[in-house]
Amino acid sequence: MRTPVVAGNWKMNGSRDSIGELLAGLKSQLESMTLEAEVLLCPPAIYIPQVLEAVAGTGLGVGGQNAAAQENGAFTGETSPSFLADFGCSHVILGHSERRQIFHETDSLIAEKFILAQAQNLTPILCVGETQQEREADETFNVVSRQLLAVIDAAGVNALGNAIVAYEPVWAIGTGLTATPEQAQDVHAAIRQLVAERDQSLADQLRILYGGSVKASNAQTLFSCKDIDGGLIGGASLDAEDFAAICQAANK
Ligand code: 13P
Repeated sequence: MRTPVVAGNWKMNGSRDSIGELLAGLKSQLESMTLEAEVLLCPPAIYIPQVLEAVAGTGLGVGGQNAAAQENGAFTGETSPSFLADFGCSHVILGHSERRQIFHETDSLIAEKFILAQAQNLTPILCVGETQQEREADETFNVVSRQLLAVIDAAGVNALGNAIVAYEPVWAIGTGLTATPEQAQDVHAAIRQLVAERDQSLADQLRILYGGSVKASNAQTLFSCKDIDGGLIGGASLDAEDFAAICQAANK
């Protein structure tokens, strides 16, 4: 049995006040729920200490949204994975499509970040996914395999033992378009198969999250698919009630 994971990616949103309110709202919503999922919050880096302090003792985990491909040194503006670990983050999102597209991160750079993050005992949440154009060209599995194999080839398949994969079709992110449960399940099954060809028991344990316009209204149908082990939530994670409902939808 794989424990589901629901992670909130707040992206570049919030202020001290709004984050304070969101956390208070979330804590009061979640208090009355019995959750099976591991729940993670990924705030902008500068707000991580505020979030860590607020969630202490609640069982909620905290992760970064990105980390540098270097440990320390003359890299102005970067956040080292060691900083995230030093403050008490357990996870870090890597290879999000916004990093790939807007900041031109390559498969090999993401693989380097993955290896460094694991060296700091952070669990990477590795994002993969195709664009609309790639889906229309029937390239979905090729793209997702290429993105995943870049990490497997660099880090070794065993590295997936301490990682989470998030399938986020780029065309479904922030657009209100959600992959159908069948579309998502097909890709999740292909990802698990790719890992199973290298290590069956690792594949059986690997948590694969779906991301892209997950809402309280569609979460349960998506999460009930055989190979979908929870979600990586953008917009809806900024609303306490919606996010809590999505966390609950991960109960089997
Ligand atoms: P939305 O849920 O806003 O579509 O964003 C998904 C996402 O990019 C999470 O990382």
